Amino acid sequence: SITRHYDFNVQMANVTRLCASKSIVTVNGEYPGPTLVAREGDRVLVRVTNHVAHNMTLHWHGIRQLRSGWADGPAYVTQCPIQTGQSYVYNFTVTGQRGTLWWHAHISWLRATVYGVIVILPKLGVLYPFVAPHKEVPVLFGEWWRADTEALVSQALRTGGAPNISDAFTINGLPGPLYNCSAKDTFKLKVKPGKTYMLRLINAALNDELFFSVANHTLTIVEVDAVYVKPFTVKTLIISPGQTTNVLLTAKPFYPKANFYMSAAPYSVIRPGTFDSTTVAGILEYHNPRSASESSFDKDLPLFRPTMPRFNDTGLVTNFTSKLRSLATPQYPAAVPQSVDKRFFFTVGLGTRPCPVNATCQGPTNTTQFAAAINNISLVLPSTALLQSHFTGVSRGVYGSNFPTTPLSQFNYTGVSPNNTNVATGTKLLVLPFNATVELVMQDTSILGIESHPLHLHGFNFFVVGQGFGNYDPVNDPTRFNLVDPVERNTVGVPAGGWVAIRFLADNPGVWFMHCHLEVHTTWGLRMAWLVQDGSLPNQKLLPPPSDLPKC
Ligand code: C2O
Repeated sequence: SITRHYDFNVQMANVTRLCASKSIVTVNGEYPGPTLVAREGDRVLVRVTNHVAHNMTLHWHGIRQLRSGWADGPAYVTQCPIQTGQSYVYNFTVTGQRGTLWWHAHISWLRATVYGVIVILPKLGVLYPFVAPHKEVPVLFGEWWRADTEALVSQALRTGGAPNISDAFTINGLPGPLYNCSAKDTFKLKVKPGKTYMLRLINAALNDELFFSVANHTLTIVEVDAVYVKPFTVKTLIISPGQTTNVLLTAKPFYPKANFYMSAAPYSVIRPGTFDSTTVAGILEYHNPRSASESSFDKDLPLFRPTMPRFNDTGLVTNFTSKLRSLATPQYPAAVPQSVDKRFFFTVGLGTRPCPVNATCQGPTNTTQFAAAINNISLVLPSTALLQSHFTGVSRGVYGSNFPTTPLSQFNYTGVSPNNTNVATGTKLLVLPFNATVELVMQDTSILGIESHPLHLHGFNFFVVGQGFGNYDPVNDPTRFNLVDPVERNTVGVPAGGWVAIRFLADNPGVWFMHCHLEVHTTWGLRMAWLVQDGSLPNQKLLPPPSDLPKC
């Protein structure tokens, strides 16, 4: 293994999309940002220098950060932000992972434009457990706003209303031909007949889970969240914000004299009518084998579109996620905790809080604001970093260690709207002893309509041992848990009107954020943090902070 050095300069750049120019925050002037490549076992040093007027932090989504929480990145959780004119070196080692992950800004809504791919190659000499692709191509889904996203978020926070939806979805930053004046801004995948391509799919959208299909082609899923899975083939897949999925696409054996849309469209159970058929498309083009030049493609070929599922096709989502299974082979075992030291039950969902005096609110009624919570608590971040307070032992006045292990009041989570929708605020951590095995059931509360929540846990991969609809039944549901080959990942959709059960080993000391990866829900408070204590051995302790760690 080697050490890889990257220089990430956070700077403004002018970008034109949907016929209008806009100055956006970028890394090195690129949108999407630069791709970070490492091999399993490598050490990565990324020097981030902030040249913009916003505070900045970057997060390496899905990187385990074993004992190196200082490099994880969520603002006010593991670090104070990098202020204008300052730099910080993110220093971490890629341990036990290979596949596709991604990096993004982890402060305010700056990840709208500040994100990029992380490619982790297997160790030298180690092959993929599937046919070697002819080419590997990153496919990053994003969202584009005509307006300034920072203005959008402050408006949402002030009024407690829902922010405007984005003006376009994008593939690798490009909206594609179905949007106004965007035909030239189209992602094109150029393939040769008979070859197999690996698409590294990443959902970097702020607020939308996405279906993805390629017309007249199938997709074979081989990896999610940088963990190999038992391969299976679909026409349409679902990918939630935060998630990554590697798929193999095999080009037709003969030149088809046609082009094919690669389309992504939102999955949403509560926003009927919000989206029309105008959505992002890239184009899959075949190289004509009779043409000598690699770059010549036939013009005016028929263009096929995939049939996209209905926006609320929960059946497709459930069917897809239930097929995901770990490889569970001797080379890639599934280390599912077979026994449980700590069991927790969390409600995750939307609620309300009273509108502050003298404010104008745009919640579900004009006397309320939207709020979101885990076990009825919206995490309020301190003005210093939680990890620092933990490390220095001065938690007093910063956080409490009393996050509730079950909801504050029990009710029927999926029936008629209950009356205890009021969401409290607090800065409370849930403390875990080192190496505890944890089982966590997350129940969606259908308080204000039903919505699926992609929950992301920092610092760990977890196994998705069960999921279902309606209220979780603690007596019968566990008898059906998969403890043999459940999928292992870092972001899981808590099903709309249902629950999901995960297990993980708390082998990474530090403070770890867990939140809904729909940015608007995180902003409303659907977030909490775990504190994993040091173990007794020297190699079971959080490393000391680097000397350049930013100060608040
Ligand atoms: Cu991808 Cu806490 O984030």
